[in-house]
Amino acid sequence: MCEPEGIAGFVLTEPAPAKINLALHVTGQREDGYHLLDMLVTFTAFGDRIAVSPAQADHFTLSGRFSQSLEGEGANNLVIKARDRLRELLLQRGASAPPVHLHLEKNLPIASGVGGGSADAAAALRALLNLWNGALPCHDLADHDLADLDLADLALGLGADVPMCLVARPLIARGVGEAIELRADLPAFPMVLVNPLLGVSTPETFRRLAQKDNPRLKVPKAGTGKPCWLAAMQGMRNDLETPAISLVPEIASVKRALAATGAGLVRMSGSGATCFGIYNTTQAAQQAAGALAKMQPNWFVVATTSLGAEELDDAT
Ligand code: C5P
Repeated sequence: MCEPEGIAGFVLTEPAPAKINLALHVTGQREDGYHLLDMLVTFTAFGDRIAVSPAQADHFTLSGRFSQSLEGEGANNLVIKARDRLRELLLQRGASAPPVHLHLEKNLPIASGVGGGSADAAAALRALLNLWNGALPCHDLADHDLADLDLADLALGLGADVPMCLVARPLIARGVGEAIELRADLPAFPMVLVNPLLGVSTPETFRRLAQKDNPRLKVPKAGTGKPCWLAAMQGMRNDLETPAISLVPEIASVKRALAATGAGLVRMSGSGATCFGIYNTTQAAQQAAGALAKMQPNWFVVATTSLGAEELDDAT
């Protein structure tokens, strides 16, 4: 991802992997209304992409299957907010942050539970840190930069999912997403992502939760292998599934369709509507995706693989 090549001649490209909540338990609620969550999170090879080049003046362009609905957003796009806040932080520290052309290739459906906007903001932060602060290798982010409290605060200020998207490798997130524990032992899984292309309102999904003090996530001990992780994941849930299905009943159809293709684990990610299936092999995932796309041409269907602990660099 650090190579000086990429989308149509940009100086630098950066993957913005989809965030998948393998499990999401709602364990409480803060006084400000935000819900406390325990989340087992992984990221996929499939996602959006950010590209960046130095420019005479700041500008932002879009491409990709789902870019159209972002056209009218202007400065409200989280990528632009990320750029402006990182610049402010660097200028405060006496560093320079000259104008840039930022480009977002939007391949992920909008408002779909896979952290798209947060992933884009995080990828923009990684790309700009590289461009403006070239000495800092991007793969050191998890170990180095999140120890930088200002950067962690900046990410959290952009959105609860941005800190974990900045790390973009298997992890457990607690609180509203700010307390991150890396889980390098969580293996990569062949996956199919399916979205019926119906947006789900995250606040409304949280509002419809019947129970807000669900059990904490029970995660395997460090160093656990794939079969143990798969077994442990069967005992976990996404507590937002029931309220999301009450808003968008098609989510239940998506889950049934994924189960019918022989997926070992089927679950919704985030507040939906994207669901995922986990398969034993890449070939099984590809076959399932082919069958689902044929059966439901109006759904978003993609076969991918989740990233292992050190794979973000290969996700372009
Ligand atoms: O993080 P995001 O901006 O997508 O959250 C949208 C809304 O979802 C919040 O304004 C809040 O109403 C609800 N939410 C919550 N608890 C969380 C995350 C989101 O109640 N941990």
